[in-house]
Parts: sequence; C-alpha cells; structure tokens
Amino acid sequence: MLQPTVTRILVLSLLLKLLEAAQIPLGAHQHSTTFNEDVNWDLNKPPGENATGHLVFETVNSFMQHWPNTRYRNGHNIVPGIVPPGTVLYHGRGDSNTPTSPEWLATDPEHSFMFCRGQTSDSGCWQLTVTATRPLKVLYFDGSAAAKMPDGAMDSQDILAYGKVVPDKYRGERERIRNLCEWAKNLDVDGFVRMEMDFEIMLCDFTEGVLVEAVNLRARPRGRPGPGPGGPGRGPKGPGGPSRHLDGIHPPPEIPPHRYNTFNQTLFNSSMLPDSSSGTFFPGSWHRYYPGDTRIQLDLTRLISFYDTELVPSLVSERYGKERIKHRLLGISPEDLQTVVRKIEQLTKVSEPGSGVDWATLIRLIVKRYSERLEMVQYMLNSTDSAKSTSENKVLAETVQVQLIAMLQPYLLSSVKPPQDPTSTDWVSPVYKLCTTTYTSYITTSSLHSRLTPSEELILNGIHETTKEICRVVTGMWVDGMMAGLEPDFYKPSTTEDDDFQSLLDSWKERTFGLMKWLDWSVWLECRPACGFEEMCYLPMWPFRRGADESDDPKPRCVRRMASLEWPGVL
Ligand SMILES: *[C@@H]1O[C@H](CO)[C@@H](O)[C@H](O)[C@H]1NC(C)=O
Ligand SMILES: *[C@@H]1O[C@H](CO)[C@@H](O)[C@H](O)[C@H]1NC(C)=O
Ligand SMILES: *[C@@H]1O[C@H](CO)[C@@H](O)[C@H](O)[C@H]1NC(C)=O
Ligand SMILES: *[C@@H]1O[C@H](CO)[C@@H](O)[C@H](O)[C@H]1NC(C)=O
Repeated sequence: MLQPTVTRILVLSLLLKLLEAAQIPLGAHQHSTTFNEDVNWDLNKPPGENATGHLVFETVNSFMQHWPNTRYRNGHNIVPGIVPPGTVLYHGRGDSNTPTSPEWLATDPEHSFMFCRGQTSDSGCWQLTVTATRPLKVLYFDGSAAAKMPDGAMDSQDILAYGKVVPDKYRGERERIRNLCEWAKNLDVDGFVRMEMDFEIMLCDFTEGVLVEAVNLRARPRGRPGPGPGGPGRGPKGPGGPSRHLDGIHPPPEIPPHRYNTFNQTLFNSSMLPDSSSGTFFPGSWHRYYPGDTRIQLDLTRLISFYDTELVPSLVSERYGKERIKHRLLGISPEDLQTVVRKIEQLTKVSEPGSGVDWATLIRLIVKRYSERLEMVQYMLNSTDSAKSTSENKVLAETVQVQLIAMLQPYLLSSVKPPQDPTSTDWVSPVYKLCTTTYTSYITTSSLHSRLTPSEELILNGIHETTKEICRVVTGMWVDGMMAGLEPDFYKPSTTEDDDFQSLLDSWKERTFGLMKWLDWSVWLECRPACGFEEMCYLPMWPFRRGADESDDPKPRCVRRMASLEWPGVL
C-alpha cells in the first residue's frame, strides 16, 4: 500500500524539479521558494538559522489563546476576522450614554466591570451590553497587544495607528484608538481585537452594526479600591494614562506546598492576599488554550505575518541572534512597513475563498501527535544525569526507542532496510521524507495548490518546515538507536564498541532538547507539579506588581483562585 505512495511522491518531486528548472509557475501565488526547492533529505542538515516557518506555525497555533500570548507579548500577526451577529460584548462606564467616539469593549463582563462606575455609591454603576446585529469585521493583533508596555507588545498596531513603531506612545491609548479608527474609516473594518488580562475589542462606531443597552448594576461598595486602569482602554474619566504597574491589583502570592482535596477554611482565612487573577477577576483564563476565544472567528486565508521573511525581509537582521521573547517590529524598514500596510488595506477589501484546508486543525493535529511523545522522551532522557549501570542504560535506551518507533511507525516502510555497516544514513531518507510530506504532499502537488492564498502558502510552508525538522531529528535518533543494536530483529551491528549506550543517550538528550527548544510549543509551558483544585497555574502578565514578576520571560506558578469577600479589591 505504501510503496506506490512513495513512488508517487518521488515521481512528483522529480516533476516539481523539472517544472522548476523550466521556470513554469506552479500556481498563481507561488510564495515560498524554499518549499519546492527543498529536496534535501540529509539527516545532518538542520534548518537555516533565519528560518521562521516554526514561528509562523506556533503563532498561528496560538491565535486567540490567552496562555501563549501572555508569554510572547510581542505580536507578529495581523489577522482579519468577524464577530458573528448575536455576540454579546460589554462596556463599563460612568453613565448610560452610548459612546459617540471609539471605545473599548470587553468580551467578558468580569473585565468591563472594572470600569463600571456611578455618580454616587447608591446610584449603581453602568454597564452597556453591546450586541452585534451583523457580522462585525475586525482585525486581530496577536500577542498581548493591549499590554501598555513600550518594549514591543504594541508594535503591530502602531504600524497602522502611526505608520511607524512609537514606543514612547505606549500610554497614549485614546490617541491610538482614534488613529486606528481613522485609518479604518475607508476600509471594511469595524474594530480591532487585542489581549491583556482578557480579550477586548476596540469598536470604532457604536451607532451601527450593534445594539446598545444600558444596564444599571450594583456598584462595588464604597471604600473598596477602584478599578485599575488596566481594562479595555481606561475608565471614562480617568485622566492618568495607564501605567505599567498597578498597585490596586496584586498578583497572587506563592501558595504553600501542601494541597487539599477539600475546601480548607483555615487556609482560606489565612493572610494570603487576593489577586487579580482569582476566579473573580480573570476571565482571560477561560480562553487559555486551543481553540481560545472562538467568538472572534479569524480568516487564516488573509493573515499577515511579520515572520514572513519575503514580505518583511528587513526584520531578519533585527531578529538575528535574539531570543524569541525579544523579537519585535522596531527596526522594520519604511519600505517593508508600507508594503505591509498596503497589503492589509488590500486584504480588508477582497475576500478570496481560499483552498478550504482547515489549517488550524492540521497544525493542532501535528502538535497533538508529537508534543506528549517528545515530552515523554525528554522526561526519560532527563534521568541520564545520574550515573547508571550499563544494563540500566540499555533498558532506558530501549524504552526511548519504543517512543521513537511510535512517532515514526506510519513512515517505517518495509522496503527501507539498513545495509550491513552503512557508511551514511542515506538509506533512511524515504522515511524522513514520507514523515515530512505526509500532511502536505497532496496540497502541494494537486490543483488545490493553485487555490492557496499567499497567507495559506505561508502557513503551508510553516507546517512543512516544522514537520521536516521534527522528522529529521526523530528519524536521526531512531536510526542511531537501531545502529546501536536496539532492534536486533532488524539490525545487528558487527562491532559493538559503544555498548554502554551512554554516548547514545547523551546525544539523544542533546537532540531532544534542541528540537523542543526550537519548536518552543506553548503546550510545554506548564506548572510542575500540576496545581491543586483551589489553585490555578498563573503566568505573570501586565500589569505587573511593582518590582515583582516583571521578568522578561514570565514563568508559570500555582496561585490560589479563590477569593474572600474580606479581601480588598475583590468586589
Ligand atoms: C474564618 O474567618 C471568619 C471571619 O473572619 C471566622 O468567623 C471563622 O471562624 C474563620 N474560620 C476558621 C476555620 O478559622
Ligand atoms: C487546613 O490548613 C491548615 C493550615 O495550613 C492545616 O494546618 C490543617 O491541617 C488543614 N486542615 C485540613 C482538614 O486539611
Ligand atoms: C541570517 O541573517 C543574518 C542577519 O541578516 C545574516 O548575517 C546571516 O548570514 C543569515 N544566515 C543565513 C544562513 O542566511
Ligand atoms: C527535563 O529537565 C529540564 C531541565 O533540565 C526541564 O526543564 C524539563 O521540564 C524536564 N522535562 C520533563 C519532561 O520532565
């Protein structure tokens, strides 16, 4: 069954090479040159140091999810989407009037309540319920684009709001929303989607496309600290711009190491501080993981990525040698910036049908297929640090080999057999290649390819580059295990110089860590050990507590998710 498939792939790739040589365009949107030229199946050839396919892959995999976008605050994508009719959104304010200028909408009332205010304590406070009466057209900025910080979170929206990156305007929220809506005036765009402690929508016009109803709610008791200026925009009367630090909202304290199966009042009564991330205040945590907040439906056939090195070549050198957490758009060339803005303006006008491929599901599938197994392999190899006997090492190596086989099983062709004492790993290339192209060969080689939009082509390339590197490393590890004699039914080495398996394990460990660092999937960022029922795993986010948590690379930890009425700031 598999044999003809491989033959077909080989024939097709040969055909591709011929077409390429003849310079015949393969499709209307030939985007990435690397993709079709990629015929190198040498296990020793890693991806280029400036390759960004894995970053496209992981950012697309993270859209509209709170967790990954809290870690990587500096967004690199702008994606058109819609908010379906009937969707209910919220706006807290000091009166019942419908805004006459652009304002911020919360996707969850827990967020907008921070801005619900009243004239006196017994007159209640005002929340506007804003319901979409038709599909609202939005542009989504990924990352934490509503975190009022100067070091990159706001870069992508500034490109539209100011025509350049302006770090010193990070507090200028009123001006920013006005500029964005001014830019959007002649386009088919109703608003913008950003994220901070939750998702929010900057809506340009409250008189069209939405039904606005004012609700008078019970206000928070007097004497309670007011809301911080951290919500959607800021309070209607708050003149002080949002600050980087909020004293009113405290990040949660460390929790004691013991865990309880039942509610423990003594512990609950103890002096632990409340926090902004307790269940009361942190609706963003509901949209943490895939698929995230699905009330905003993105159109991946029209995304723009700043990791697209053909669209934005000037950022390649800006990113060079920097950790991903430091990637930002500062330093983009004026030409690239213009190209991007033009492109977005174009994309908001047209609506190409695209190929119909479900990219989000495909990406998710690949993550599912490999994330737990790679983590398992890493976990086993983590134990190699302590000295082990040769027999213990052998058992460990065999256990790892089982996982490697499991990952490669659909690609282990019966025709692929090792020659005795092979001098290279070339014989294994068909496995590497089938593993890499399994999800994409039909899309690349059929008529479907001509229907891909440039954005889809970019995603396809991201999937290809990511899968290729996973398959390269895993196939390479598996072959080495086989050559070391771990699968005697298939191969018996004639020399057994390395019979304590130590160097195999060391090399496996290095490669596994290298691959997982390169992939950098957010599914691996979690609290260890897992948090108890009364806790939640928390990743420090803007607004940071002064002096605390404000690290460049936020680290997850368990915090309490229950609050007490006694605690300041809870109600
Ligand atoms: C918890 O605090 C309340 C009032 O602050 C008190 O009435 C109650 O006895 C306390 N419970 C425990 C178990 O300490
Ligand atoms: C509740 O927490 C307190 C304080 O940590 C502890 O001393 C006590 O044993 C706990 N009670 C139960 C029933 O687990
Ligand atoms: C990667 O980008 C840097 C900075 O632009 C450049 O100096 C380097 O040669 C590039 N590396 C490759 C392999 O193209
Ligand atoms: C393996 O060890 C590293 C630290 O060296 C740690 O970060 C990682 O989480 C461990 N992996 C597993 C699966 O336990």
